[in-house]
Amino acid sequence: MAEINIREDFPIFRDNPSLVYLDNAATTQKPSCVIEAVRHFYERDNANPLRGLYDLAQRATAVYEDSREAVAEFIGAAGPEEIVFTRNASESLNLVAYSYGTFLKEGDEILLSVMEHHSNLIPWQQLAVRSGAVLKFIECGVDGRITEEAFRSALSSRTKIVSMTQISNVLGVRNDIRTFARLAHEAGAVFVCDGAQSVPHIPVDVQDLDVDFLAFSGHKMLAPMGIGVLYGKKALLEKMPPFLTGGEMIEYVTREGATWAELPHKFEAGTVNAAGAVGLKTAIEYYRKVGFDAIQKREEELSEQAFDVLSTIPHLHIMGGNTAKEHNGIFSFSLDGVHPHDIAEILNADGVCIRAGHHCAQVLMQHMNVPSTVRASLAFYNREEDILRLAQSLSTVRRRMGYVE
Ligand code: ALA
Repeated sequence: MAEINIREDFPIFRDNPSLVYLDNAATTQKPSCVIEAVRHFYERDNANPLRGLYDLAQRATAVYEDSREAVAEFIGAAGPEEIVFTRNASESLNLVAYSYGTFLKEGDEILLSVMEHHSNLIPWQQLAVRSGAVLKFIECGVDGRITEEAFRSALSSRTKIVSMTQISNVLGVRNDIRTFARLAHEAGAVFVCDGAQSVPHIPVDVQDLDVDFLAFSGHKMLAPMGIGVLYGKKALLEKMPPFLTGGEMIEYVTREGATWAELPHKFEAGTVNAAGAVGLKTAIEYYRKVGFDAIQKREEELSEQAFDVLSTIPHLHIMGGNTAKEHNGIFSFSLDGVHPHDIAEILNADGVCIRAGHHCAQVLMQHMNVPSTVRASLAFYNREEDILRLAQSLSTVRRRMGYVE
């Protein structure tokens, strides 16, 4: 991959060549083609999709629906009706919890892993309160691994929903979703996969994994903020009630009630984010242009380099797995005697952007017995120089905080 050309595609790096951006698990930067596609929509195609009969509105509808097709193809869905556009992965997960959650009753079990970020935890906690269902957790080891044995022993005949991340936003560990989805199905449960950290970095095929639902965000994969995706198996989406109501999600309305539009529109209330969907389609095209194999290879190389240099910094402890491979470009760590927020401040002064805090995963922090960490997360457009700048800055932090060594 020609690193230099990739950087040129991103205005934020083009205009600020010394920027070291290592907070990609929070959101990615946007290439010009995505920014241009959004601009083009508003300059040339803007009308309210799915409503107007004039040419402009038909064009807005067409580009919106084309984007749905592109997403369906990208994740191997059986058809575009299985793709619901939402605002982000959090909204997708809330949709499933509210809508599929209406089928749950007292005593049913919802199974989560201990590493879920809050967006894949709180919707289920709220569902448990509403339905009387019980929330159960699968523990992970200090390396972040969830074994098949741990998964099997947490499942029961009462489990109705399993919801789990494919890649942890804190540890970078990758869960064996295909196996866990099969086991969940054998127990009679549906499997919800949080793909927020995986879809942008590894090929994800919903039919190959056989997950019932997959949630992810556009903004973590080069697309604009405010566009997200819920994939759902058609048979399940069909029997689920709407989540939000109003707008074009109806078929027919009377004073007393309403019937619902066909899939996927039943789940898309109000005016949709057509420009965001077009931006997401363009991001997918950009991924294809660069090539997923090349992206994965590059991220693996950078991950190896980051793991190696971070491992040599005195007093620094990486959370989770003992090899680069187990991190998938995500490194959470602590530095003896220095609060993560102080580290973030010092790195910021050196022009290095990382995230410090609990990473919206406080249950995992409690499980690992740490209040907070620093996290560096990579994307294919990062440079070796970025990792060296991170390491350089980190190796001065303790001295700058007054420690002698
Ligand atoms: N879940 C996002 C993160 O890990 C916001 O930073």
